Amino acid sequence: MGLVLTITSGKGGVGKSTATANIATAIAEAGKKVVAVDFDIGLRNLDMILGLENRIVYDSIDAMEGRCKLHQALINDKRVKTLFFLPASQTRDKSVLETKKVEALIAELKNEFEYVFIDSPAGIESGFEHAIYLADVALIVTTPEVSAVRDADRVIGIIDAKSKKAKEGDEVVKKLIVNRVRPDMVKKGQMLSAEDVLQILAIDLIGLVPDDEMVVVATNTGEVVVRNQKSESGNAYRRISRRILGEEVAFASLEDPKSIGGFIKGLFK
Ligand SMILES: Nc1ncnc2c1ncn2[C@@H]1O[C@H](COP(=O)(O)OP(=O)(O)OP(=O)(O)O)[C@@H](O)[C@H]1O
Ligand SMILES: [Mg+2]
Repeated sequence: MGLVLTITSGKGGVGKSTATANIATAIAEAGKKVVAVDFDIGLRNLDMILGLENRIVYDSIDAMEGRCKLHQALINDKRVKTLFFLPASQTRDKSVLETKKVEALIAELKNEFEYVFIDSPAGIESGFEHAIYLADVALIVTTPEVSAVRDADRVIGIIDAKSKKAKEGDEVVKKLIVNRVRPDMVKKGQMLSAEDVLQILAIDLIGLVPDDEMVVVATNTGEVVVRNQKSESGNAYRRISRRILGEEVAFASLEDPKSIGGFIKGLFK
């Protein structure tokens, strides 16, 4: 049975879809059979980040409602053979998701794939609860901004209350990705450090991703940074992926909350 990892956040636009595309690609490149599922109904953009938007015929709602077989909706990435993508529907009706149908879909994906990545809408959006409901692991993305961190905290609370695991008395594993970190700003005391963020959220860090203009270029060209060996953010996503695969990967200096953090104290006190 595959592992379900939901990439989520409280605030919108913090980098969930970018993280999903990069981590799913890196894990598929390690030879694992991976599917990335876009759960952002009506607002698809994981397809663009993966460079697969021109190949969409059917979507997850078509598969859930029996208008096509699941394998007809799945798109196989030609560059990474073990990577598959399941697009979101562009319907305006966000209430199309039904718990039972979502469960059946995810169960089918778990049978076929080792890793099921769900790109969730932000915590305030409808569809969010479906995206976190079946998660084994939640990768919570935040930027080092007070508003995003506060919203991430609320989302952690919702996961602990409303996931299937929580309802069964179990716990979803929660890991934090701090995205768009600028060490220069942290040093000047203009940005929260990872340490500050971790103090507030009290969950484990799985990686820091630097702010990197290559991410924007990559999105525009449909190539993910993780396939570019020269990209710093790509390196960060590769390290995160290796940690997900269970490897012990030392935190590089940018990723060490102690080495870049500790400069600004008291912002939350
Ligand atoms: N590390 C990074 N460095 C620079 N830009 C980034 C980084 N990560 C994400 N971005 C940019 O931030 C924007 C939002 O990213 P993305 O779409 O991945 O966020 P999201 O959380 O999925 O948004 P939404 O809540 O709308 O689904 C994009 O323009 C993306 O290119
Ligand atoms: Mg998104």
